[in-house]
Amino acid sequence: MYGGLATALAALVVVAPSWAEGTAEKTVHVEIHPARPDEMPTLRNLFVAYFYDLSQYDPNLIINEHGLPMWAPSGGPGPRTHDECAPFNWWIRDCCLPYLVRADGKLAGFLHVCADPDHLDPDVDFQLLDFYIAPPFRGKGVGRQAARLAFDAHRGRWQVFQLARNSPALAFWHKIIAEYTGNDHKNLDDGTQQRFSNGTVTTT
Ligand SMILES: CC(C)(COP(=O)(O)OP(=O)(O)OC[C@H]1O[C@@H](n2cnc3c(N)ncnc32)[C@H](O)[C@@H]1OP(=O)(O)O)[C@@H](O)C(=O)NCCC(=O)NCCS
Repeated sequence: MYGGLATALAALVVVAPSWAEGTAEKTVHVEIHPARPDEMPTLRNLFVAYFYDLSQYDPNLIINEHGLPMWAPSGGPGPRTHDECAPFNWWIRDCCLPYLVRADGKLAGFLHVCADPDHLDPDVDFQLLDFYIAPPFRGKGVGRQAARLAFDAHRGRWQVFQLARNSPALAFWHKIIAEYTGNDHKNLDDGTQQRFSNGTVTTT
């Protein structure tokens, strides 16, 4: 089902609109686009880097004896090669919409949007499951623009989570969602979950 949706979205490239004008961010041109099937190996490489990054914030995310990040509760020795790492930790990501982020045309990160009702609360339409900006592109407003573009691409009731120890992500999402919604959002779970609506889901 979502493979079809991803294919339909493949023609869509979302670029920073006029809200980026007049700010320092206009110096970096950010776009997100649905990852094509042939781009999925690239996205999976970024996913492994993302899991390395998150392992500093979650004791269940360990670096195994092969030097790779893994979700420890899955058990076993885990992935032995880089190529095995993303599939091992993939969980529900086949049900998500994958996007790549480009900054001034260069690959800068990825994100996953979950829109599968089987994996969402009944009062949620979209969850931002993964969001990663590679280190050389951080602190330049790339994440801010990519997040806004992802939200703009999907109208409905949103949910975003952070790991409690991921203080950079907490600071980032609190700022970005407050800006995006004009403070019209809910903070739940001691500030590690945000919910807001940016419109009504349209079906085509
Ligand atoms: C968190 C992350 C997405 C931020 O991306 P980024 O492109 O560096 O963020 P931006 O430059 O757009 O920052 C926007 C705002 O977020 C805040 N922010 C960003 N990084 C921050 C940090 N490390 N510490 C504190 N605040 C931060 C700032 O307030 C900034 O506002 P400003 O531009 O007015 O100063 C990026 O560091 C990342 O990918 N981290 C690793 C993966 C991760 O933790 N993902 C989130 C999972 S929930």
